Amino acid sequence: MDKLIINGGHRLRGSVRVNGAKNAALPMMAAALLLNRGHRLVLRHVPDLGDVRTMCTLLDTLGVRSARDRHTLTLSVEDDRAVRAPYEIVKTMRASICTLGPLVGRRGEAHVSHPGGCAIGVRPVDLHVRGIAALGARITVDHGYIVARAPARRLRGGTVYLGGAFGSTVTGTANVMMAAVLARGTTVIEYAALEPEVQELALLLNAMGARIEGIGSYRMTIHGVDRLHGIDWTVMPDRIEAGTFMTCAAITQGDVVVENVRAEHMTAVLETLSQMGCDLDVGALAVRVKGPRRLKPIDLNTLPFPGFPTDLQAQFMACASLADGISVVTEKIYPERFAHLPELSRMGAQARKYESAAIVSGVRELHGAPVMASDLRAGAGLVVAALAAHGYTEVQRIYHLDRGYDHIERRLNAVGAKIRRVADKVAAAPARETGTG
Ligand code: EPU
Repeated sequence: MDKLIINGGHRLRGSVRVNGAKNAALPMMAAALLLNRGHRLVLRHVPDLGDVRTMCTLLDTLGVRSARDRHTLTLSVEDDRAVRAPYEIVKTMRASICTLGPLVGRRGEAHVSHPGGCAIGVRPVDLHVRGIAALGARITVDHGYIVARAPARRLRGGTVYLGGAFGSTVTGTANVMMAAVLARGTTVIEYAALEPEVQELALLLNAMGARIEGIGSYRMTIHGVDRLHGIDWTVMPDRIEAGTFMTCAAITQGDVVVENVRAEHMTAVLETLSQMGCDLDVGALAVRVKGPRRLKPIDLNTLPFPGFPTDLQAQFMACASLADGISVVTEKIYPERFAHLPELSRMGAQARKYESAAIVSGVRELHGAPVMASDLRAGAGLVVAALAAHGYTEVQRIYHLDRGYDHIERRLNAVGAKIRRVADKVAAAPARETGTG
């Protein structure tokens, strides 16, 4: 297992390019399951990440072969009879649940291991299940597997309400959409997730021959079709990776141009950076971020899109820990997503959790320390903090980071960071762990 050794206190300067979005690519890859045997889906700008490789392995068990040429992934359906997403793979990556909808929608049956909880909370899948049941599937849970069966092997359109205690569901909307595109008749999804990754999936499906209306709104209408065809598609830029790089600039008093950004996906993030005192220059496809001498405190709520994304909460909490005053960071998507807080405290941050919020009293200085990434974005938050801390920080368990960031150390070093990746001989991976993404 590797760890990162970060020598903090260096201003970042230069340009860094954002990759294709992990959370757009994963459900799009699952959409290959909707194709008939012999068809291909070509996805460009697919990041080279642990989670993408895991999805390739899962699709392989489901008869879809993948071939990668740099950032282009070709998915070819060789066998369209397999319907089982096994526990051994699903337990390492929650996004495996995205196979449920396309499998039952196209193959008439799905056996997908229940993903269970993970490091950022309980994370139920009741809305996914309720949505697919509303399309006529009979659902049972059998030895830890969600089993969905369509009557006479074809779903029928229905009305699906996806509102839950914390708003809608991102991968749940993706699942129901993929289940509905090949159903008989029309489906209406009420309270669809508005996240750009969901919108992009709908656009991809339409380009494959689906008939989805209301993309980007709370009500989506899906007219079922008989079959889809393969397509060549470029994955949108990763707004979370972009936001992570922006916080790296903000916290180091840096001056960084973050390239390949769709600013319309990042209004809440850019607004927050601006409130913290960053100087922003927002262009058509790039954002230049200049960090101030001292960041200002923030009152931040994570919310469903277009609100501030939970996947950037840890990185902004790292920034808040050095701000000039008291910040309040409230988590409205995953109330327990604060595993980075005690690790930041080990670096000198003054923060305490109160129910689903963290109260952060900004300090003048963080100091390097050995810390542990408990999940992907918590790990990113620790890297951001370490870039500004005095001395050396060792971030352990960076396999979490590698699931969502492609060689983060190389890309940050190219703009002036001092990060080394070394083998961690002492730390051992936990025996069993559910991936958070
Ligand atoms: N929820 C339910 N029931 C459900 C589904 C969700 O109660 O059936 C709750 C969740 O527990 C949570 C809220 O609804 O409180 C929103 O969860 P959502 O289903 O939208 O999350 P997700 O689809 O499982 C995706 C991303 C996450 C990201 C969240 C929120 C992917 C593969 N994952 O998860 O990304 O945090 O949306 O934006 O798209 C990451 O990349 O690090 C990551 C965790």
